[in-house]
Amino acid sequence: MGIHRLGDMDVSVSQAKPGEIDVGLLVVGLCEGEALPEALASAAGAGDAKDAFEKLSLLHPQGLKRALVVGLGKREELDAERLRVAAALVAKEAARLEAASVAWLLPSTEGGGPGLEALAEGIVTGTILAGYRFDRFRSGDPEEPAPAQIESLTLLVPMDEGTRFPPGAAEELASAAGAARICAEAQNRARDLQGLPANVATPSFLGRHAREIASAHPAVSTDVLGRGEIAAKKMGGLLAVSQGSAEEPKLIVMRYEGGGSGPTLGLVGKGVTFDTGGISLKPAAAMQEMKMDMSGAAAVLEAVGAIAGLKLAVNLVAVVPTTENMPSGTAIKPGDIITQYNGKTVEVNNTDAEGRLILADALAYAVELGAERIVDLATLTGAVLIALGSTYAAVISNDDELAGEVEGAGEATGELVWRLPLHPEYKALTKGSVADLTNAAAKRKAGTIYAGSFLEEFVGETPWAHVDIAGTAWDVGRAYVGDGPTGIGVRLLVELARRLAG
Ligand code: BES
Ligand code: MN
Ligand code: ZN
Repeated sequence: MGIHRLGDMDVSVSQAKPGEIDVGLLVVGLCEGEALPEALASAAGAGDAKDAFEKLSLLHPQGLKRALVVGLGKREELDAERLRVAAALVAKEAARLEAASVAWLLPSTEGGGPGLEALAEGIVTGTILAGYRFDRFRSGDPEEPAPAQIESLTLLVPMDEGTRFPPGAAEELASAAGAARICAEAQNRARDLQGLPANVATPSFLGRHAREIASAHPAVSTDVLGRGEIAAKKMGGLLAVSQGSAEEPKLIVMRYEGGGSGPTLGLVGKGVTFDTGGISLKPAAAMQEMKMDMSGAAAVLEAVGAIAGLKLAVNLVAVVPTTENMPSGTAIKPGDIITQYNGKTVEVNNTDAEGRLILADALAYAVELGAERIVDLATLTGAVLIALGSTYAAVISNDDELAGEVEGAGEATGELVWRLPLHPEYKALTKGSVADLTNAAAKRKAGTIYAGSFLEEFVGETPWAHVDIAGTAWDVGRAYVGDGPTGIGVRLLVELARRLAG
């Protein structure tokens, strides 16, 4: 079973006037203290339309079916993130009103605030992400119609109103909207991968999915190694974690040759398709959530597809180690010593600290394959949820410049990251008693940093940033991602690739 999405949204830009187009719902973004556009100003109740951020007011102007005013708050506080939120609130209201088509009359770019690109990106991203549903496993009640869905989104920039928009605005908007659509749809596909149960989204399934992405883009190639090849390469971490499982592990390698003169970007994603904890078994209560322990892998695979779709001038090498972590008669046991791909030995004192073992091999392999900057994404520690909740992901890096790029990219896309430190004292915690390293800290000290410090042992001198997304991959509750899978990381990686492209 591949991933098939029904009806991706149609996104377009139109220079028509609000009254001229036939649309299920006209949307008007209103900044605080600014006037409604002419077409709405005379509608009953127009005077009461709220301009405070996140407020919605429904109007029935003459000659138009209906219009929804969404408050955008103060112009100087308006940014792409607020637009994503506003667009998501609008999308939900549109679904409630059963409007299949929505046209957004953009706020003028005069007088400051976000430019055209941010306007298009925010509205398109917020609308597409908010429209996401995971209903493929519902057999459907014939009595109950499927919930309404927005099929088309139009950005309206009426040019005859002279000064409201600069010349060429429509073209600029169309290009930004197209790019945003590619990214948001990739993010929704990553959410599908996250949501799929572990009996469907196995390592082999992810391998096939990578091949599908590669076959859709001529500049992407992929290679999927199985257990035999993983063993032959002496990837002791991936081998050890997978040895308790009947599902074959896979090491997925994807390359994208986009050219350009920037450094080759290495992307690594944790692909544990189910994390029971292994012999260090997790409690039963919320174990089902651990089907999402491949969220880093989902983001990396879909980001490669989106970067290729955007034809960014960058070269990528992505390495995704994927396996189940199961307890069984063949599983690794606490105390077992393994040898990672780069030759370092590790005492596996806690089989539930499995992510770092498979990432260690993948990071060392990415360096060998020519990655000159590496970013890894992983649902690595429960500790990051305690430290940063679902608002910020943690970033840990051996390179200030790369850390800054990741922070900047996250700021731009709304996938916020907060840097945590490395320090020799943390490093000391990772030293093994009988092997080079141990995979879990004795007193659970600095769980997230410990894991990052462990990973640093496998990248050599290569600039590297590790992003721990355990708190931000699921149930974030932000307007445009809501509960369930968030697809975090897809747009962040695309933005990072954009910044490194040259
Ligand atoms: N996959 C988990 C981390 C996780 C926790 C992801 C919550 C998503 C939500 C990871 O493999 C894990 O089990 N980490 C342990 C490490 C510990 C044993 C050192 C943890 O965080 O408890
Ligand atoms: Mn675990
Ligand atoms: Zn895990």
